[in-house]
Amino acid sequence: MRIDSVDATQLGDLREPLHELYRQCFADPPWNEPQEMLDDYVNVLAKHLERPGLSGSVAVGDAGLLGVVYGWPMPPELPDDTLHRAVARVVPTERLVAPAVAVVELMVNPVSRGRGVGRALLDHFVCARDAWLVTHPDALACRLYKSAGWRPSAQFRNQYGDRRVAYVLSSGAT
Ligand SMILES: CC(C)(COP(=O)(O)OP(=O)(O)OC[C@H]1O[C@@H](n2cnc3c(N)ncnc32)[C@H](O)[C@@H]1OP(=O)(O)O)[C@@H](O)C(=O)NCCC(=O)NCCS
Repeated sequence: MRIDSVDATQLGDLREPLHELYRQCFADPPWNEPQEMLDDYVNVLAKHLERPGLSGSVAVGDAGLLGVVYGWPMPPELPDDTLHRAVARVVPTERLVAPAVAVVELMVNPVSRGRGVGRALLDHFVCARDAWLVTHPDALACRLYKSAGWRPSAQFRNQYGDRRVAYVLSSGAT
């Protein structure tokens, strides 16, 4: 396996395998995303690809794409939208803005899980920066974040009423 850094153009070139990976990652518990939401990832990804500074890391093996993580650098001011307002109720705003990076998606192909791919992707992408992300409190990913030194917030509800938790990683530089 190798891990490569990718920019928005390179992630865009992976649109179809990324969508397949998304279906494999978010149809099952605790996510249970309905078909229409799984299908809509193509549009969500298109919006993600427009975000300034988007970058990611991809894990590639003999069989192709094993996993991906991507996100973007946060601006100095917190965006005034429902998600960021909800996260700011459980995480101090100064941890959410620049120089922090937001981790937006982390996905590993089910057949490649449990072999350190997720941990390696996260390390490669975050690369000792301040970072934060939002996940489901029952996701297996929480064990990865905790064992990698990320701190969980109080739980909160997103705009759809789903339970969520933020995880914050402090590099120690700020
Ligand atoms: C979360 C996810 C990325 C983990 O990928 P992975 O490659 O299996 O993770 P790793 O093998 O690197 O495991 C890292 C740590 O996570 C924890 N972990 C991961 N899978 C686990 C499992 N099935 N059971 C228990 N712990 C698990 C362990 O603490 C593990 O540390 P260890 O290797 O020291 O035991 C993967 O399960 C996934 O894609 N899930 C669906 C999508 C998702 O929930 N993404 C996160 C959204 S925020």
